Amino acid sequence: MTVDLGTIRRLVELTVDGEQVRVPEGSTILDACRAQDIETPTLCYAPNLTPVNACRVCVVELEGARTLVPSCARPVEDGMVVHTDSERVRHSRKMVLELLDSSVDLSQSGEDVDRWKDQYGVDAGRYGPPAAPAAAGERDARHAGHHEIPDGSTAATVAQPVKEDNDLYVRDYGRCIMCYKCVEACGTDAQNTFAIAVAGRGFDTRITTEFAVELPDSACVYCGNCIGVCPTGALKSVSEHELREAGQWDPDDETVTTTICSFCGVGCNLELHVQHNQIVNVTSPTDHSVTHGHLCIKGRFGFQHVQNLPEGS
Ligand code: SF4
Ligand code: SF4
Ligand code: FES
Repeated sequence: MTVDLGTIRRLVELTVDGEQVRVPEGSTILDACRAQDIETPTLCYAPNLTPVNACRVCVVELEGARTLVPSCARPVEDGMVVHTDSERVRHSRKMVLELLDSSVDLSQSGEDVDRWKDQYGVDAGRYGPPAAPAAAGERDARHAGHHEIPDGSTAATVAQPVKEDNDLYVRDYGRCIMCYKCVEACGTDAQNTFAIAVAGRGFDTRITTEFAVELPDSACVYCGNCIGVCPTGALKSVSEHELREAGQWDPDDETVTTTICSFCGVGCNLELHVQHNQIVNVTSPTDHSVTHGHLCIKGRFGFQHVQNLPEGS
């Protein structure tokens, strides 16, 4: 038997919620929590992206640290003592989720987010009724340093019309939590295209193309890797958007079949998401050594020909 010395890592010992945990050096506190089956909410974290610490919903209390620390990014160290369910942690997670829920449409963010909202007692309504949505393009035109004073009677929101400017995917920034995942996937973590970036400051911060041009006029190559990592439904395929708008989106009927992309010799793993005998989305597993969850335009969107079947078949 041969031993690959390159994969052996020293074990680090720490205490999480009173239990001794040993995890390989280089692991994060989140890895240590998961090794103990301690559920930790995450929004901006993804296993195939560099942590950016944008959302802070994963914070834990670390003895000796002045502030709460983001578990998704903080590497473990010998002797750390971590508390994941203290009053301070619960309060902080509640505030993060509550401020997001009051300003962003989280209704397509999935069952985990719904469960965390219940678990932490989120009450977005206490900030007042939502303010009127912005007109199309209004938020894109805002300049840093020119904030409008809130009227105090309504909760500010990022609600705005969906951007539909191409055949492949929509940008529904009324659902955007500014997790930066799409920017990372478009940048150095996957595609290196840099078609989208963060603009603005404070509440006016938003994801945008250069000079806020429409997607067909931007550097976008339509790989859809931004869709693949978006946790809230802010970015989604046109096929999914149209089915949702028609009231025909049916995740209860969905099956997922793994196959190999046949468009080129790279051999990416594809996951075909099928509802009512129609492919509605294509993804790739994040733990696949070739794709790390990312695809190109052909693999992600080139499925319509499969469905051009004769009438009645
Ligand atoms: S569009 Fe999606 S992935 Fe991009 S920052 Fe917003 S929520 Fe995150
Ligand atoms: S997804 Fe793109 S790169 Fe991967 S096998 Fe298909 S065509 Fe090739
Ligand atoms: S998930 Fe850790 S900071 Fe967002």
